[in-house]
Amino acid sequence: MAFNIGLLGLGVVGSGTAKILLDPKGRNPIIDDINLSRVGVRSLDKSRSVEIRPQLLTTDLPAIVTDPDIDIIVELLGGLEPARTLILDAIAHGKHVVTANKAVIARYGDEIYTAANEAGVYVLLEAAVGGGIPIIKPLKQSLGANRISNIIGIVNGTTNYILSEMTSNGADFDDVLASAQKLGYAEADPTADVDGLDAADKIAILASLGFGGRVKREDVYCEGIRGVSAVDITYAERLGFVIKLLAIAKDTGDDSLQLRVHPTLVPKSHPLASINGVYNAILVEGEPLGQVMFYGPGAGSGPTASAVVSDIMNIVGILKSSGKTKVLDPLLSCTHQHYCAINPIEEIVTRFYARFLCHDVPGVIGHLGTSFGKHHVSLESVVQIGFQGKLAEIVVVTHDVKEGYFRQALEDIKAQDSIHSIPSVLRVL
Ligand code: HSE
Repeated sequence: MAFNIGLLGLGVVGSGTAKILLDPKGRNPIIDDINLSRVGVRSLDKSRSVEIRPQLLTTDLPAIVTDPDIDIIVELLGGLEPARTLILDAIAHGKHVVTANKAVIARYGDEIYTAANEAGVYVLLEAAVGGGIPIIKPLKQSLGANRISNIIGIVNGTTNYILSEMTSNGADFDDVLASAQKLGYAEADPTADVDGLDAADKIAILASLGFGGRVKREDVYCEGIRGVSAVDITYAERLGFVIKLLAIAKDTGDDSLQLRVHPTLVPKSHPLASINGVYNAILVEGEPLGQVMFYGPGAGSGPTASAVVSDIMNIVGILKSSGKTKVLDPLLSCTHQHYCAINPIEEIVTRFYARFLCHDVPGVIGHLGTSFGKHHVSLESVVQIGFQGKLAEIVVVTHDVKEGYFRQALEDIKAQDSIHSIPSVLRVL
């Protein structure tokens, strides 16, 4: 019994997916039951890295999602529209959906999963986070016995590449971004990656799975890496840290979550500190498991297609064994009903790194200490590393402190005559 696939999009991941489906030898035999039946593309004339019979290709994507012969729609268009509408139309026509689209799921997951549950169809998304790294199914199933307390990930390869290059070459952000764009590692419009939006979509999805509730995408606090300078990377290095863009979802213990994406000083001994280049890694902590880390290629044609095809295989396996299309396995479908409460960023408790440019006058370190003390900020270290022109450069690392208190202290410090500027403030893991 064969199952018909309608593939939407034949770009990098779509081509990788088609290549696997058209070359099943030596893979799981369930792939023999998957028939690539129609392929929706923007242009019929484009040259492609995979050979598809021309009669399968069409530019009429709505016709694919409503085609009664198609069992599973594989949405690999990316972006919000027309992806959202096509997914909803596919569901309305009783089709299961496989998608790699983190932006659509993070923003419209509620609407999509409500529709899917009503229609009795699956919407699977292993490829949406971590590319080829299995993380969605592990969170839903393999780790399901645990009470998850933390999910901390490097989930964006572009920014990890840029920060890794800045660290190893001492180069500035703008120069590394330009060379990453030339090499094709960064998009011409790098906004979603460098401003942390892609990582925020991904942590919203992981948090929803790990903590068993829906998450509003706008609740994820998000800072990108444009403000990270080569100077801070060097100082962090001297203090025993590397700077990584982390996506963090943490159970606060009082029925709420911290959800945040920001550049972070990571101790060199931490498992995430050694994840470099375009690789991704996700550290999950739970009880009774302890820690487990998932590591691998977070993007790219083959790795992401591997995740897409695993979802198709899962659905086909269920359809084959049950013969039913309308009964959902609760371990694969979305069962969440409520939204998770999210802590405002001012409430989080963390350590900070801050760099100050100060006039070289008597008492400046004392002034800093007084303002920090007044706002309950305890300092772990204060180092006057050098000078920039006539200005003294002072770097502090704090102990754990409520972010709101730390920000109040910074406001106080900014008003002091001896302080010229505060070029950088970063959180410390
Ligand atoms: N743009 C993403 C990254 C890959 O750089 O990791 C797709 O999720």
